[in-house]
Amino acid sequence: MKVAVVGATGLVGGVMRKVLEERQFPVQSFLPVASERSAGKSIGFQSKTYTVIGLEEAVAARPDIALFSAGGSTSREWAPRFAEAGTIVIDNSSAWRMDPRVPLVVPEINGEIVKADDRIIANPNCSTIQMVMALAPLHRAYGIKRIVVSTYQSFTGTGMKAVKQYELESKGFEVDAAEMAYPYPIFENCLPHCDIFLDNGYTKEEMKMVNETRKILDDPEIAITATAVRVPVHGGHSESVNVELKQSFELADVVRLLEQTPGIAVQDDLQKPDYPMPLTAKDRDEVFVGRIRRDESADHALNLWVVADNLRKGAATNAVQIAQHLLGRGLVKAPGLTAS
Ligand code: A2P
Repeated sequence: MKVAVVGATGLVGGVMRKVLEERQFPVQSFLPVASERSAGKSIGFQSKTYTVIGLEEAVAARPDIALFSAGGSTSREWAPRFAEAGTIVIDNSSAWRMDPRVPLVVPEINGEIVKADDRIIANPNCSTIQMVMALAPLHRAYGIKRIVVSTYQSFTGTGMKAVKQYELESKGFEVDAAEMAYPYPIFENCLPHCDIFLDNGYTKEEMKMVNETRKILDDPEIAITATAVRVPVHGGHSESVNVELKQSFELADVVRLLEQTPGIAVQDDLQKPDYPMPLTAKDRDEVFVGRIRRDESADHALNLWVVADNLRKGAATNAVQIAQHLLGRGLVKAPGLTAS
């Protein structure tokens, strides 16, 4: 089929291309799309070279699927135009996630909510995806009452500009204000500031975790509070998750449940010691869960340490899995695969 990656020159766009290749997604025709600044550049995909095109040209080509990762304003303006042309848009920005008409999908959890006539499908926030992957089985089994989460998020989640800021700072260079992705250095620092501040004193990232988790788990009653922190780490996001369940549980049952959940890898051996870390989660598609222990200060409460590669399961892998899910359910047709 004809597949466009909008934001193909960006960090997530690059990983989207890689994951499409790795998973042998049936791409007959590939359209790398970026801003007019990049139009004409060459990009490799499945051992061929393609020329980067602009959005007008891409929408005119009427791709079957467009994976978007080019920021919220591009998605707000262009996703509906692709949708009108018949393309299914899988959007990695926050533009459409909380729109009640748009499904917000982690395929392992709620892929079945996608309907045949959906043309825009939202990919959740990276920190939200890895947290709900670990919490969805617990919610199904015991019911979740309250979540308290603190994140330790890789600078790669902010895109190319942040990676350049980190690299320059780590080599000892002063970075011009215009070249900085953050208001302060990220090298040897922690910034309790992911995305913009809102009127309630939380950041937009923190409120994404609150609202998107409720939407994905389909439970507006879950109490959630989040603190999102940017750290000088490359390989992935880490999260300290405290969760209060509605029912009592045996710790061994919780561990077994997580071990049996597709997409989750339990890494929890205190003797070795073995636990999830961004260094070991990098380039992996699983969500790693460890330090699984009872919160002894509250009834029915647990602590978890959850780590995933934010560019993969937190973004590109989840988007490609949504495309695979659509293909599997026949909601998008691959010409070579539908003859029977
Ligand atoms: P470009 O490289 O031409 O600027 P990152 O988050 O890693 O910085 O990547 C952002 C991606 O989104 C890049 O591929 C970038 O293209 C693309 N992008 C940014 N603004 C636009 C726009 N207005 N139209 C199309 N693509 C855009």
